[in-house]
Order: sequence, then structure tokens, then C-alpha cells
Amino acid sequence: MGVIKLPGSSLEFFKSNLDEIFETGSLAEGPWNQRLSDLAQTYCGTTCAIPTTSNGSGLMALLHLYKEYRHRTEVLIQSNTMYGVKTLVNAAGLTLSGFIDCNPLTLMPSLRDVETALEDRSNTATLIVLLSHIGGIINPEMDAIASLCQERGVTVIEDCAHSFGATLNGKHSGAFGDAGAYSFYATKAVPAGEGGIVVTNDEEIGRALTDYVKYDRFNQLMNIGVNIRMSETQALLVYSVAKEVGEIIDNKSKIAARYVEACQELGIRYIDQEAQYTRGNYYKFIVLAENGSIADALPELKTMTSKVYDYCLGKSHIITTNHACLPIWYDQPPEVAEGVVAELTMSRA
Ligand SMILES: Cc1ncc(COP(=O)(O)O)c(C=O)c1O
Repeated sequence: MGVIKLPGSSLEFFKSNLDEIFETGSLAEGPWNQRLSDLAQTYCGTTCAIPTTSNGSGLMALLHLYKEYRHRTEVLIQSNTMYGVKTLVNAAGLTLSGFIDCNPLTLMPSLRDVETALEDRSNTATLIVLLSHIGGIINPEMDAIASLCQERGVTVIEDCAHSFGATLNGKHSGAFGDAGAYSFYATKAVPAGEGGIVVTNDEEIGRALTDYVKYDRFNQLMNIGVNIRMSETQALLVYSVAKEVGEIIDNKSKIAARYVEACQELGIRYIDQEAQYTRGNYYKFIVLAENGSIADALPELKTMTSKVYDYCLGKSHIITTNHACLPIWYDQPPEVAEGVVAELTMSRA
């Protein structure tokens, strides 16, 4: 695991509110879950936001709910995503019915890739497309992909594990499809150790999820549900970090600016997180090989963080070798980026 630093203001906020949780004895199902939900709802612009123990538990719950209430039984996921997206679909008891190819320049499916995946499916009434936004930006074709799926009657669930704070045309991830789930896992763009938040404008599903996360033990109307609630101490921690998302992204943007300058000077392709209409959160800073492998294109580049990803679930194998991730974390000392720039420069000499 790489270096994880949090803004000082997050830590101070966390510490100054922690005692109250113990003094009031409100360790679960208390005000911090509500405050976090309000923060995410306002920030992401969705009508519902429900804290969960993780992104994965939130996605599993969504799959259960779309199966129970919308008769969805099959799921397509993208080739290039975290291995656990496959396991969580199987664990949810839905059928994993295929993998959507990914564009090597964005590491995510293009509109054409999704069209191809839907081409030979006559019955889309039972289908969910579960798409992961990779590396800190929202899939640049997400609007068109969501429209296509809507026309075809396909449910779209967004895996927003990497994308808290990212926008496309001013819209946050999770608001393009039917629902989405964020991750606040220790290494994510906005890290708080563990935690997730599901966002949706589908109010029926949002209400059902609110009850699902507590076994529907009060209303006792649902057949499904489990405890995937966030504890109050965790909700306070996620809140403390999430409220500083702007500061975290601004800080990382300054580090990214150094890489952008070097890549432009040296003619190295990179994924632009500040292109027109796009605002990424710099979860990763990704450099790409024009053709072939990044190891061949940048032989002196040794200082890297983990790829997204170095394995492939479907057919987009080129992605495992065509990219590298440069170190970028909150409050990263300038000498780290300078060292990386030196390696990039030597690679081009
Ligand atoms: C693309 C992607 N999806 C989902 C997850 C799962 O997130 P969590 O650990 O919060 O369940 C991760 C985390 O590694 C991820 O990278």
C-alpha cells in the first residue's frame, strides 16, 4: 500500500467530534450517517445517498435490489476493472453474462464497445450493465452510453470506486445511470480507510436500500437485506475527509501539472483529467504507450504506483501493458515528482 495522507483539517475535524460519539453513546445509526448522506446528496446532486460499509457491499445490495424489484438477473461488466467486480456479481447470485471490451486510450468501454456487447442480445429486460470509472475520470462517453442503455431498457449501475469528486459536463458519477457506488477505501482518491456511499435518483431503490442496510428490521416488509451499515465513527471519518474533497483534488492537480508539463515537453501520451467538460480527481496519473508496451516506451521509468489494472477479465489485454501510473498522493513532496520527471526524461534521451 502506498503513502496515505489526509488533510490536517480532516484530522482536526475528526478528532474534535469523536468524543461526542462516545459521550452520547450513539455508536451506530446516529447523526453522522445522516450528515454524510446529506453531504453526498448535495455534493453529487442525487436525490438519495446511503452510506455503506464499502463500495462492494453497496454494489452487491444494488444488484440484489434490481433483481428483487426490477427482475434483473444478468450482468455485463467491463474487461478492465478490479477483480472483485466479478466476484461481487457472482456473490450477489446474479449471472455474470460477459465482459465489455475497453478502449486502450481511456481504459474504459467506448460507446461502440457497449453497442457491440448489446448487439446480439434480443432480451435486455433482465440485463444490468455495471461499468467502472477508471483512474479518476468519468467514462468520457458515459452520457451516450447511459442513453443507449436507457433506449434498450438496460439498467446501468456505475462503479464509482475511483471517482468521488470527478465530474463530466458538471455531472457527478452515479448520476448518469440508475445508481452508483463510491469507495473510501484506504488507497482511493478520497481515502478514509473503509467505506462506501451509494447514490441514486431512483427513489424507490434508494428507499429500499435505506431499509436493506438494516435488514428492514423495523418495517419487516422486505425479503432481502443485511447489515451493511457504516458505523458512526467511520461515518465521521468519511465525512471529515469527504468535506475536503476540493482541497484534495486541488493539491493533487498541482502535482499533476508537473507531470503534464513534462509529458507535453517529452511527447508522452497521458490521460487528461482536465480536458474540456472533464474534471478528474487524480486518483491516478496515467501515462500511455502510443503502441506496444509502456515498459518499452519509457524504459527508465521505475517509480510507479499500481496499474489499473495489470490483469484483464475479458479481452482487452493490451491495457495490462500499455499504461503506467505515476505516483500522486495528497501532499506528495515535490521531489517525488521531480524524480519521476527525471526518469521520464532519461527514457526519452
Ligand atoms: C474499480 C473498483 N471497483 C470496486 C472496488 C471495491 O471497493 P471497496 O474496497 O470499497 O469495496 C475497487 C477497490 O479496490 C475498485 O478499484
